[in-house]
Amino acid sequence: MSADDKIWGGRFEHKTDALMEQFSTSLHFDRLLFDADIAVNKAWAAALVAVGVYTADEKEQICAALDAIQKDFHAGVLSFPPGAEDIHSANERWLTDRCGEAGAKIHSGRSRNDQVVTDLRLYMRTQNQLLQDAVKSMQSALVDLGARSVDTVMPGQTHLRQAQPISFAHYLLAFFFQLQRDLQRLREACSRCNQMPLGSGAIAGAAFEIDRHALAAALGFAAPTENSYDATADRDFVNEHLYCCSQIMVHLSRLAEDFIIWSSEGYRFIEIDEKYATGSSMMPQKRNPDALELIRGKSARVIGNHVTGLCLLKGAPTAYVRDLQEDKEPIFDSLQQTIDSLLIFAGVMRTVIVLPENMKNALDPALYATDVADYLVRKGMPFRQAHRIVGSLVALAEREGQTLADLSLDIYKKHSPLFERDVYALFDPDAALSKREIMGGTGKKSLKVQINHARELLEL
Ligand code: ARG
Repeated sequence: MSADDKIWGGRFEHKTDALMEQFSTSLHFDRLLFDADIAVNKAWAAALVAVGVYTADEKEQICAALDAIQKDFHAGVLSFPPGAEDIHSANERWLTDRCGEAGAKIHSGRSRNDQVVTDLRLYMRTQNQLLQDAVKSMQSALVDLGARSVDTVMPGQTHLRQAQPISFAHYLLAFFFQLQRDLQRLREACSRCNQMPLGSGAIAGAAFEIDRHALAAALGFAAPTENSYDATADRDFVNEHLYCCSQIMVHLSRLAEDFIIWSSEGYRFIEIDEKYATGSSMMPQKRNPDALELIRGKSARVIGNHVTGLCLLKGAPTAYVRDLQEDKEPIFDSLQQTIDSLLIFAGVMRTVIVLPENMKNALDPALYATDVADYLVRKGMPFRQAHRIVGSLVALAEREGQTLADLSLDIYKKHSPLFERDVYALFDPDAALSKREIMGGTGKKSLKVQINHARELLEL
């Protein structure tokens, strides 16, 4: 039995192996490209009028049928035609069933090689916008909480060890600016994605004199692609988006890790709202930060998708090869997981309970050691020498079971005559913050500048 239920069945004498049929179909995932494929078919039908393949009437008939197919598809009343291996062949079949010969003309001058990549670029343009919106909702949750947290002081940690006092707002704004870079990356990726391959045919360009500029404009693309060989082979725009997603997820994963640690019994700096936590099936007391753990877990999956995208291309001969069908599941998955993770995290951020007293009580007076060294520097001592002196004061305090703030002025003076009573004023979080009004610092005025700028950026 021949494979004549396939759009390419003409030269085949035998039916496709049943397992091969299942193995090669992409309908279960490329159905996401359905709407893009309808738009591409309509624009292509219009372009075929100008080159005499369609009459204006036929084109009208085709476009009306495509509208009807779209309606029926979304109403769930269409079943995939036998032999349709992907959304493009399904649409062509449905169209031919409804329009006969006119439907059978739709693939003139076109290949699925340029069709699939045009659909994918269209689809991703929309997804890029959704991703940008999701980044912005997370950013606005960060700024809102940041604006309320300027006066909340916490131990800033490096190496997960107490380092210097910072405002909680400073921490939150760090993530605002990380996501701002993600947003820039998405905008740039969008501009490179927004180019139209249609008219490239299988590899060499369509043999009909289609006005590709008009076609690009009709589909809302910025421009047609420049070279048909490149256009059908290229999946850089997919990989760029896979990277955008994995970078966003890495940012979210680090933030999630911090929040998981800070909500644990050892810290109790924050509490994750019940909406985003779950209990244990066994231990009645548990309230686990599952939303954040899932985000951390999903980041692994999104990074995996990124690696898949790169590996797909590294050994593939430069032109369309069927390997490229494997680009879709990773990118569809990464887009969905990243958008969901951003929206979930924005919800966590909007509902998180901050416990400023616990943050403040956790401040170890050793956190002010840098300020004590700076004190000596302001009095003329070389920093390296000041560092050594304060280091020995810290060691002394530790030996005596005391803190830097408990040591007597005598002891300070023994270490350096530059010390005066005002050294004790350093052991105060507000004093530490107020010394860091430098641009980008954790001082309260500096934070207000950051918050204002962040709010301006959100308007763009
Ligand atoms: N479904 C294919 C893909 O996603 C497009 C079809 C091109 N197939 C072909 N044999 N030329 O890449």
